Amino acid sequence: MCVDPHGIPVMAVVDSEMMASAPRSLKVATGLDALTHAIEGYTTAGAWKLSDLFHLKAIQTIAASLRHAAEGDAEAMERMALAQYVAGMGYSNVGLGLVHAMAHPLGAFYGAPHGVANGILLAAVMAYNAPSTGERFRDIAAAFGVEDAMTMPLEDARAAAVEAVAALARDLGNPATLREVGASEADLPALAQAAFDDVCAGGNPRPAAVAEIEELYRSVL
Ligand SMILES: [Fe+2]
Repeated sequence: MCVDPHGIPVMAVVDSEMMASAPRSLKVATGLDALTHAIEGYTTAGAWKLSDLFHLKAIQTIAASLRHAAEGDAEAMERMALAQYVAGMGYSNVGLGLVHAMAHPLGAFYGAPHGVANGILLAAVMAYNAPSTGERFRDIAAAFGVEDAMTMPLEDARAAAVEAVAALARDLGNPATLREVGASEADLPALAQAAFDDVCAGGNPRPAAVAEIEELYRSVL
């Protein structure tokens, strides 16, 4: 990770027409990255009322739009362009979490596209984080359109949020295992140490030791 004030653009052009000629796999990967920004931003240790507004709106929009945007629907791509920007306005002020911390080494070790790596990890890390997220997974489930998300038992709402995210990644055809991006069992200890040392790990709502991170990698190997 490189973080520096000089990396902040003076101006950004957000033009969803640029998505039209991008390959489907790029629409899927960048869309899953935007979803990861929104979900990690909503549950990160530094989240607060204002950043919540950005992240919840982004989750809701991405949940309703990414499947259609991946197939090239112009209105859905326009909604994704707005959602990724809104998510960025949120998380760039409050931080991310363990999905990003674990995705970065997959890029460094194997050249795995960032969004693909996030898409493999997101549901598994959400399930790990669930006990440390209070009522927040209810909101995520509701943003995905899960009926009764606000009234069902908390454990059920948490499971529904994780399943909604897993189903989206599955439907989009994102790789589901680390082996598909080149990882092997022998690399897991080094990956886990790199993820533990990543700047994003500190924002995770549930602290994770190196051994727990290694186990999370193994669960999606
Ligand atoms: Fe990202």
